[in-house]
Amino acid sequence: MKLPNARSVILHEDLTSLSQVVAQRIAELSESAIEARGLFRIALAGGESPRRCYETLRELPLDWMRVYVYFGDERCLPQGDAQRNDTMAYQTLLNHVAIPAEHIHVIPAEKGALRAAVDYASLLENDLPLDLVLLGMGEDGHTASLFPDNPALQGTASAVAVFNAPKPPPERVSLSMSTLNNARHKLFLVAGAGKREALQAIANGASLPAAKVIGAEWHLDHAAWG
Ligand code: 6PG
Repeated sequence: MKLPNARSVILHEDLTSLSQVVAQRIAELSESAIEARGLFRIALAGGESPRRCYETLRELPLDWMRVYVYFGDERCLPQGDAQRNDTMAYQTLLNHVAIPAEHIHVIPAEKGALRAAVDYASLLENDLPLDLVLLGMGEDGHTASLFPDNPALQGTASAVAVFNAPKPPPERVSLSMSTLNNARHKLFLVAGAGKREALQAIANGASLPAAKVIGAEWHLDHAAWG
């Protein structure tokens, strides 16, 4: 499958093998970043697709003392809410590795989208570009919390407030498209038959949000690429 703006498209039999390969890629990218600059800044993806990858990653020998974690987006829900992206990341990965707590930069989405986006943008000020942004893709072709035809897509700050998101909750915070594109590496994890239509649309030239990420490595499972 060819995706117009992709740097590479890697096809996997299933989510398990996709997750194992991506976990290995993250370990490789962390090693080269730490070797080059002494640290590795990664933005984690939310949703369900990355779960198994995170569970695999926690078993790999990364130098967690030199890893700094950010989030591609967050849902405006109370801290600790089961539906928050950071909750999933703590449960599957961050509670299981020796990363200093102060290296984990959650998005304060419980403050509401506007306040949280401003706070996160100032936190990011001296930390960009990120070394790696992990991204999922929704069935409508959204990525992070950048949804088709949503004003947040035009946001120029490093983190943007999102309202009226079609995927609940409606209020979110997201890294902006420019922050995603300025990362040194971008990696999509896309699995499941539900993503097939959006992938096909992107392959046919549709300018969906996920297609606006330039030069990403796309990891797809068989169910998604058909
Ligand atoms: C979110 C995610 C979102 C997710 C895609 C894919 O808050 O929902 O950040 O961008 O990555 O919707 O979600 P699944 O992996 O659950 O299909």
